[in-house]
Amino acid sequence: MVAAAKQSASPPIPLVDLQKQRAALGNRIRAGMEAVMARGDFILGAPVTELEAKLTDFSGAGAAITVANGTDALQLALMAMGVGRGDAVFVPAFTFAATAGAVVMSGATPVFVDIDDDRLTMDPVQLEEQIAGVRKAGGLRPRAIIPVDLFGRPADYPTILGLAKAEGLLVLADAAQSFGATQATPQGATKTLGRVGTLAPATTISFYPSKPLGCFGDGGAILTGDLAIAEACRRLRGHGFDHTGEARQVGLNSRLDSLQAAVLLAKMEAFEDELRARRQAARWYDTRLSAKLRTPLLETEDHSAWAVYAIRSPLRDILQQALTEAGIACAVYYRKPLHLHAAYAGFGAGSGSLPTSEKVAEEVLALPMHGYLDEATVARVCDTLLATL
Ligand SMILES: Cc1ncc(COP(=O)(O)O)c(C=O)c1O
Repeated sequence: MVAAAKQSASPPIPLVDLQKQRAALGNRIRAGMEAVMARGDFILGAPVTELEAKLTDFSGAGAAITVANGTDALQLALMAMGVGRGDAVFVPAFTFAATAGAVVMSGATPVFVDIDDDRLTMDPVQLEEQIAGVRKAGGLRPRAIIPVDLFGRPADYPTILGLAKAEGLLVLADAAQSFGATQATPQGATKTLGRVGTLAPATTISFYPSKPLGCFGDGGAILTGDLAIAEACRRLRGHGFDHTGEARQVGLNSRLDSLQAAVLLAKMEAFEDELRARRQAARWYDTRLSAKLRTPLLETEDHSAWAVYAIRSPLRDILQQALTEAGIACAVYYRKPLHLHAAYAGFGAGSGSLPTSEKVAEEVLALPMHGYLDEATVARVCDTLLATL
């Protein structure tokens, strides 16, 4: 209590410090935006083409198609993959509403799967059970899996891809939170490091401002090595028109604008450094907190992009209050798993059906995390937490 009162005189600590990033990169960003205004190529202009090439190079995916936001990216990818009415799409219950919302908007039916208690991503054992359950119930056709890279950590793609192959299902990675993360993937007897964008046949990302690579508004992209999916996404983001001007399929208007692309191009120059800084901040948190609190898995075979650093505690609400009183921003992602929200309850089996998702929702607390955190700031957050326990 005393410690918290003393600390409240200190400057507030934001959850994501976009002002520090602006101080570091503002001139580059302004120059890019000025160039767009001078040229006037606001829609699908030069920066969009350049960004798509840079995203392709950076990720190692075969193609990048930028779109208006990460939710549209999911919907467009599902449409491009031919997923729709009568199809069951398996999604984790502990994720942002967009993952399941895009499935519903594509005409398909989301089937919720529980998460793994350690990594917080889709539990492959539960996934197998849910697929078997849908096959047994009849009615819906098991069609696709959308693993979510929660908080920046890649889902267990090696296991999920193996299961998808055995079951004849498509896989679309929801990497809205994990662009920049890597995973060691089996290549015969050895393992190679793959970046998000190459871990699944198709991947979607978000450039929402607080994401690891964020713009100054909404934005998103689809990354894929499947050229048929890439072509279909390109058509579908512009009302389904092909290069001859024929509308082949009903699509959306979902383009990333050139000003946002210019912002992202400037930010990509610092992105690797920012990812390193996030990893360092995660290690500082872990060193100070792991003896007393449940901290996220550190580096295993996956390197998280650390979009979110979330601790877990049964005292979550007390810790949240203490941080808030000390001027330290924190947040709960997510207070309820999707199968307990009114909009999605009809697709789930109610309270108690997905116990790990339900328990984690009561325990998680996201601490300040971004590419410009220093050790003293992390120490202040940790001291406040430890003094409250
Ligand atoms: C897991 C996940 N999927 C999808 C999205 C949707 O991205 P956007 O906000 O760009 O539509 C988000 C955004 O927060 C997300 O966290």
